Amino acid sequence: MLVLGIESSCDETAAAVVRDGREMLSSVISSQIETHQRFGGVVPELASREHLDKITGVVEEAFTRAGVGKREIDGLAVTNGPGLVGSLLVGVSYAKAMAYALGKPVVGVNHIEGHVYSVAFENPPVEYPAFALIVSGGHTNLFYVPAPGQYKVLARTRDDAAGEAFDKVAKLLGLGYPGGPIIERLAREGDERAVPFSLPRMGDGRPDFSFSGLKTAVSKYVRESGLQPVAPGAEASQHVKDLAASFQRIVIQSLVGTTERLAGEHQPRTLIVAGGVACNEALREAAVAAGQRLGIPIYFPSPHLSTDNAAMIAAAGTVKLQNGERAGLDLNADVSLRLQNVEVEDEILRQSRVRYKL
Ligand code: KG4
Ligand code: ZN
Repeated sequence: MLVLGIESSCDETAAAVVRDGREMLSSVISSQIETHQRFGGVVPELASREHLDKITGVVEEAFTRAGVGKREIDGLAVTNGPGLVGSLLVGVSYAKAMAYALGKPVVGVNHIEGHVYSVAFENPPVEYPAFALIVSGGHTNLFYVPAPGQYKVLARTRDDAAGEAFDKVAKLLGLGYPGGPIIERLAREGDERAVPFSLPRMGDGRPDFSFSGLKTAVSKYVRESGLQPVAPGAEASQHVKDLAASFQRIVIQSLVGTTERLAGEHQPRTLIVAGGVACNEALREAAVAAGQRLGIPIYFPSPHLSTDNAAMIAAAGTVKLQNGERAGLDLNADVSLRLQNVEVEDEILRQSRVRYKL
């Protein structure tokens, strides 16, 4: 089955042609980093305009690189949420129009489920039940995945996403955007024990994540220690490198520690770690070590599949199309589309559902 995937939920316009959900024939990504860099974050209005400018060329390029004609595909898959509404609408409208013109079926794909499927290309097939830790600029969720397409949220962030914390801390240290790769590079030369930040803990004992307190602690440390943010174009001081390493250590310890503890309880057979933050080598090393202690394999996407792309959307959409799922022409963007679809049976999860409206 040949599927065209389209992704435009945030600041990447992407299209890909994928065969049978596992073979990537092409994956084209047009990044808007340069447009948003000077603002230190994504500007929604600029993002949707740029998607509109780029989408036709990106889709054409995906067909050309794959050596596949438009009429040869069996269906289309498009991200329809969560994300920025204007950005999502560009991809959704384009995909529906193309599906209609070609007389092919189309399905909507949840962006977070797309990240789960980003491991489909370079790893053995996932064994279920699985765990999926999805860590990106917009999301930080740990899912229990009893079977393909079934998701139960075991832990989620109460405030900032992990990638967002990297980006905000980078901004307050005078580093560029996106902050994750820069902090990782500086952290390699820093002492991760230099600043003793503490691990965030939930007052109610839930295994959720929280990163805004850590960001505030970094900001307080900067103020009180008199640390100077890095001037544009200047080399970071050892003090900044130590701070970057100390911050990164806590984020990783929180993500991997919680995942390992819950994996001990739920006994998954595979652990998937995906999303932009999964590019982080230190996170990968910590996850691999946890996998060894648990005796289960860890699947990561390679870096170009970790950040937003359309191949992962095509892979997730292939399963839906194979199962006979079809979206109508009323398929719409849903900015807060949820992924949890498995009944929450245990008491702790039931209580948290009531309390946090999961
Ligand atoms: O998945 P992604 O491309 O977009 C979203 O769906 O959000 O993730 C982007 C996020 C940014 O916050 C970026 O700082 C973070 O992933 N990121 C990293 C690294 N590379 C990208 N965070 C930590 N370490 C990295 N090496
Ligand atoms: Zn993403």
